[in-house]
Amino acid sequence: MRVAVRSFAKINLGLYIGAARADGYHDLRTAYQTIALHDVIRVSIARGSGIEIVCKNKDPRVPLDSSNTCYRMAERVLAELGAQHRVRIEIDKRLPVQGGLGAASSNAVATMVALERALRKKLSAAARLRIAAEVGSDLPLFLVGGTALGVGRGEEVYPLPDLPAVAMVVVTPEVGVSTPKAFADWDAMVERDKAAELRSAGRTNASAPTGAGTGQSPVTTQALVSTQNHELTRPGASDRLFEVGCALSAWLSGSPNTGAPRKGGSRAGNLLLDLVRTGIENDFEKVVFPQYPELRDIKGALERAGSRYASLSGSGSTLYGLFRSPADAAKAASRLRKQGLKAVATSTLTRQQYWKRILIDSIVAR
Ligand code: C5P
Repeated sequence: MRVAVRSFAKINLGLYIGAARADGYHDLRTAYQTIALHDVIRVSIARGSGIEIVCKNKDPRVPLDSSNTCYRMAERVLAELGAQHRVRIEIDKRLPVQGGLGAASSNAVATMVALERALRKKLSAAARLRIAAEVGSDLPLFLVGGTALGVGRGEEVYPLPDLPAVAMVVVTPEVGVSTPKAFADWDAMVERDKAAELRSAGRTNASAPTGAGTGQSPVTTQALVSTQNHELTRPGASDRLFEVGCALSAWLSGSPNTGAPRKGGSRAGNLLLDLVRTGIENDFEKVVFPQYPELRDIKGALERAGSRYASLSGSGSTLYGLFRSPADAAKAASRLRKQGLKAVATSTLTRQQYWKRILIDSIVAR
């Protein structure tokens, strides 16, 4: 039995990073959106045991061992279903590796979908979500599809209203960005900002009473005082996440607090653009753009090409722009290609389209 499925990509419509957690992850809020670009995953089963990964395009960046997300997924699905088979997973890679489009995560969920079908056995919905979250934070969104709210470390997903498809352009730069490194860079930036605030508070309070007689240096005492003030006044990481939650909730209630007038088109057709008008941002841009200035330039190029909203997806390096119509997107993609960029016009994928298009075929091999 061989099953072929499309492994669709996602983008992030806004991404807010909260505090680093004791388990090494970060709390976050994001709206995930599946898009029509995809890899193809072919899963075949035979008598025997063992999992074999084959990358059709022989991309050296795709691991072929047990570190591959598809391998880890197949291992778990077989164990959960109590199945004993030899599994061959062929990855036809079309999406960028380390691109911020969730390709490796999507590949793993596609493996789950195909393997269940090949084995003619079904996992419970709860088992699917649990296994997906074990393999990675970005997997469960692909069990929902369409527009989904991601909270926790991103693995806790809630389906949002199934929005009409929106035209878009995806630009894939050559560079790959490591997500764990981007999170570490974010932590370093937060620490640097805190230290800078403490230093400037120390200067402001230079005439204030010092810690003389307490055994502490004046600077340490100043730092302590300003840290306490700072924690009382400055919005903390969790406050930021709460504010984002409010903006998303306002949008969902149909009253986005944008103040921006909506130009033409139906309410339904504009829902996604309404969301981006709430002022959503991707925090990763703050650490990724300074390291890769060419990515900031690409965002600018998307905006100049007429994008209604342009952003980095996840930790990058992929950038996308949302457009008013497929014709606008096609025109912009062609203009960007002339500038030497790898740009493609595509569209977001509704939940219904996602599930309707996921299966390519299912063949009984002889
Ligand atoms: O969950 P996943 O394996 O995709 O995460 C890869 C790495 O990204 C984690 O090991 C962690 O370093 C970082 N991460 C994080 N906070 C998240 C998601 C991922 O720090 N919410």
